Amino acid sequence: MSKPVRAGDKPIAVEVEAGQNYFWCACGLSQKQPFCDGSHKQTDFTPLKYTAEESRKVFFCCCKVTASQPLCDGSHNK
Ligand code: FES
Repeated sequence: MSKPVRAGDKPIAVEVEAGQNYFWCACGLSQKQPFCDGSHKQTDFTPLKYTAEESRKVFFCCCKVTASQPLCDGSHNK
């Protein structure tokens, strides 16, 4: 599998906490989008670790083709 599965047509907003680690699903197979649930084990993908620098709302990519992983860059509209 070389292409991730499109897990959604819009990003998911999450209130992240400063200093917390989040593991973004890169394969698109997770049932707990936008985060990893271990489903990538059958693929070449691994989750991407994201550490929040500050507490704020961020938008995690669900179409999985963002150029600024793990956050949305608007690619879902292309
Ligand atoms: Fe997709 Fe882990 S389930 S990267």
